[in-house]
Amino acid sequence: MQELRVKSQQIDPTAYRQRYASEGDAPKQINYPCRIYIDDNVLPSAVYCELDHKLPALVEACKSLNYGVTHRTRGMRTRSTTFGYMPRSPTYQQDSCRVVQMAHDYPQQHAVLCESAKLLSALYERHNPEVFVEHVAQTKIVVDNYKMGDTPFTSGIVNKDNQLPYHNDTGNFAGVWSNMFTFKGDIIGGNLTCPQLGVTFMLRDHSVLMFDGQSIMHGVTPFIKIAPEAYRYTVVYYSLQRMWKCLPPAEEIKRADKSVRELTMLRVEPDADGGGKLRAKSTREALQAVAARARQPRKSKSKSDAL
Ligand SMILES: [Fe+2]
Repeated sequence: MQELRVKSQQIDPTAYRQRYASEGDAPKQINYPCRIYIDDNVLPSAVYCELDHKLPALVEACKSLNYGVTHRTRGMRTRSTTFGYMPRSPTYQQDSCRVVQMAHDYPQQHAVLCESAKLLSALYERHNPEVFVEHVAQTKIVVDNYKMGDTPFTSGIVNKDNQLPYHNDTGNFAGVWSNMFTFKGDIIGGNLTCPQLGVTFMLRDHSVLMFDGQSIMHGVTPFIKIAPEAYRYTVVYYSLQRMWKCLPPAEEIKRADKSVRELTMLRVEPDADGGGKLRAKSTREALQAVAARARQPRKSKSKSDAL
């Protein structure tokens, strides 16, 4: 594996964010196994390599999944699906940590995706042992039930034919890497440009890219399909920081049951002013009320209450 030292590029991120990437934004092309260092840094900032064997089961899993369409800012649409584990999310009315829906709808594919985390984890440990150790240490706070096997990754996403605009990843543990497989067939283009590094990774079929996607802005260059059955998948593995709040699964279920009971009470309990109205007009409003009540300091019992 080659070692490449690049000069950090002083860029205005606002000039790039949410616009489509172009290889002209970062003209140095990386199409060989390479460990990249910025300026005088001792630790690498990215590693690109190619697998020495094919992963047909993983490619087949990607091809056989159903992909939802997500609308991003500026009307950009993406097709993706998540795997692994998700934290609680009151915004989406998810009141417990859980395995994603794919595990129920496509259990075999989900198992293949989670199993493949081991290969990326091993490459991560081999090519960037210092950050790998830090990643493992940071994610010790997450209950093992929410990690993919013996890896530090909690979660992942499969992108199908997505020309993602420039962005920084969010929500992951700080300072550690996200790792990504790329699978391409009959595709021209669809590479990954990182203006801060001044490099474009010429993502080949069955390649792996590992880097800190939160710190380093990145975007996908345009691509075209040259055959009807052409495909481009990227499979990204990461560790969601909010998973540290997750209790072991049995306790999560108990906690969620308690929330539902509280929710039911809130929705039928009359207002204190005797108006007889429901306190919450919707489940979402009730969830917000539960969360607000949980944040309030508990009142100590008065003497009369205690009697
Ligand atoms: Fe990303």
